Amino acid sequence: MTIQLDVTGMMRSAVPTGATPEALAALAPRLAAAHEGLLADAARGVLGFRELEAQAAERARVLAWAAAQRGSCDDVVVLGIGGSALGAVALRTALLPRDWNLRSPAQRGGRPRLHVLDNVDPRSVRGLLELVDPTRTRFLVISKSGSTAETMSQYLLVRERLRAAGRSPAEGLAYVTDPVKGVLRRLAAADGVPTFDVPANVGGRFSVLSPVGMLPAALLGMDVDAMVAGAIAMRDRCASGVLQQNPALAFAGLQWRAHAEAGQGMQVLMPYSDAFRDLAPWFVQLWAESLGKVTPAGAHVGPTPIVAVGATDQHAQVQLFMEGPVDKTVTFIDVEEMDGGDLTIPSVGADGPAELAYLGGHGFGKLLRAECRATAGALTKSGRPTMTIRVTRADALHLGGLFMLFELATIYGGQLYGVDPLDQPGVELGKQLTYYQFGHPDWQHMKVIWDTLPGSDPAWVI
Ligand code: PA5
Repeated sequence: MTIQLDVTGMMRSAVPTGATPEALAALAPRLAAAHEGLLADAARGVLGFRELEAQAAERARVLAWAAAQRGSCDDVVVLGIGGSALGAVALRTALLPRDWNLRSPAQRGGRPRLHVLDNVDPRSVRGLLELVDPTRTRFLVISKSGSTAETMSQYLLVRERLRAAGRSPAEGLAYVTDPVKGVLRRLAAADGVPTFDVPANVGGRFSVLSPVGMLPAALLGMDVDAMVAGAIAMRDRCASGVLQQNPALAFAGLQWRAHAEAGQGMQVLMPYSDAFRDLAPWFVQLWAESLGKVTPAGAHVGPTPIVAVGATDQHAQVQLFMEGPVDKTVTFIDVEEMDGGDLTIPSVGADGPAELAYLGGHGFGKLLRAECRATAGALTKSGRPTMTIRVTRADALHLGGLFMLFELATIYGGQLYGVDPLDQPGVELGKQLTYYQFGHPDWQHMKVIWDTLPGSDPAWVI
């Protein structure tokens, strides 16, 4: 496996706002301290996402159950949101052909389609439930807390649909939730539904390598063992407190420096790879929900992660990246080997348009990679800082490595920004005001806050 982080484009030798050797020397103790902080967190037992060996028994249970389900369903539907859904989307996009759900059962080799219902928009919920046959579908209810309103609403509807189709919860559902807490855990015991544990010390957005991601992966026949091996290899590679020896620390440290010293808090992740295009939203949630916080001293901090896709966004956002404010860093993901080999662009031939002759005989993948290098070069030329993550191929092994790289970087980011990357207090008030509006008995005291909110002023409704 090769995953390399090339940070040349973040240096002063490449761009005017880049890090000088002096700045890197000044940063070194801070990075060493961030690494010590991570080790201390690990020793306190709060970084369960790193402890993949400890999850081996539950993973074996997932794999055995998934193997026993083979051929029993046409569709797998994930009911989940946030960290309980984005990993499955990233896995699906990376490890299945792009049109997987459109393929016939024979083209899918008997494996099911995979849907991720990560919203409560009735259009999507109704649309999906119209599409799948409840007697041939396994619904995975994935919620660490086992109480998230969006997921529980979907669950209630699916439970009713299964009942109407004459199926028991045990036949149509599986749960992934906290080992002890939450409504789902209680229901699991009552309904006899197959249930898999999210370790107590693994939070939602860090949970993709737990049953949260590995259950849908196993049901779809993905190489779970390779993914975990890739993640472990990356974790073990990130064992030093020195930037040059630890890609996760280098990523976090240089992004943080760019923000703190050069005002570059907009941080774009731009895979030049359709396989990794949904890795970017997964990263955005991880980075944003973990690092956008109030420090103990009361400062509001955090980078703003942005999704882009190469080459598509060369025709959308790259203009902004090139000539807009110098407030961004752009991280490319460059994949060296194309899945299924490259695809040759035909030569124009004697009767074809001569203007297009330059394309003929080259590969589409070669074009994609040339565009990645060209965009990186153009941004450097405009003084915009960039990094490139170079990956040999988009397979389970490398995907596991990338998940771990970004998860570790996020913990380092928490140390550098001075916030707890594992909590999300900022989402609570919105949830509580929703509960209040729905008459949840525990949240009626929120009326005090609700009543102070400014109503819509007709003078400002335009
Ligand atoms: O990262 C997080 O912790 C959140 O995004 C959660 O994953 C999200 O809120 C869903 O929570 P739960 O899995 O408890 O339903």
